[in-house]
Amino acid sequence: MHKILTLAFILGLVSLVSCGGPEQEPAPKKTWTPELDQPSELAQIMRDMHEEATNRKNSLEQGQLDPALSETLFSMITAHPTKPHMKGEGFEPYAKSFIGIYNQIHSAEEVGVQIQAHNNMVDACIACHTQFCDGPISRIEKLYVR
Ligand code: HEC
Repeated sequence: MHKILTLAFILGLVSLVSCGGPEQEPAPKKTWTPELDQPSELAQIMRDMHEEATNRKNSLEQGQLDPALSETLFSMITAHPTKPHMKGEGFEPYAKSFIGIYNQIHSAEEVGVQIQAHNNMVDACIACHTQFCDGPISRIEKLYVR
């Protein structure tokens, strides 16, 4: 089971397209070499956060607290983006507010409280993405724990 999830995740990574259209159709498979682009520092942090949030959603849906704490996301403010305009004016306040909300996930001691904090975090992901990078929003919305 775990292997399948890992594989699904790797395939998911391959299909990531930074701020491009929401769900771009993959090009027809001619060769079996996926083109792995070199992510920017910021894009890598985003991928890590996306993975962590996916894992946390799975734990929470099974009624378990997830203690994972990503250290890299704290460097979101200084990380280099793929293109300079992706971090326009106003990026920093969004990042700071995101980090504040993220910290609440780790102070949660009950599943219900962590679910609420996790969903608040997803709101904060989307708030910043609406301003700076709307491509991945439909994928981010899947992170909500219902
Ligand atoms: C403060 C703004 C901000 C916040 C908060 C934020 N993002 Fe991002 N995100 C960006 C920007 C800007 C990019 C484009 C980065 C680049 O290409 O260098 C990005 C890119 C991404 C990507 C595409 C990465 C790739 O492979 O190119 C994903 C997926 C993503 N974010 C998910 C998330 C998730 C999940 C969260 C919340 C846990 C989140 N983001 C929170 C601004 C933000």
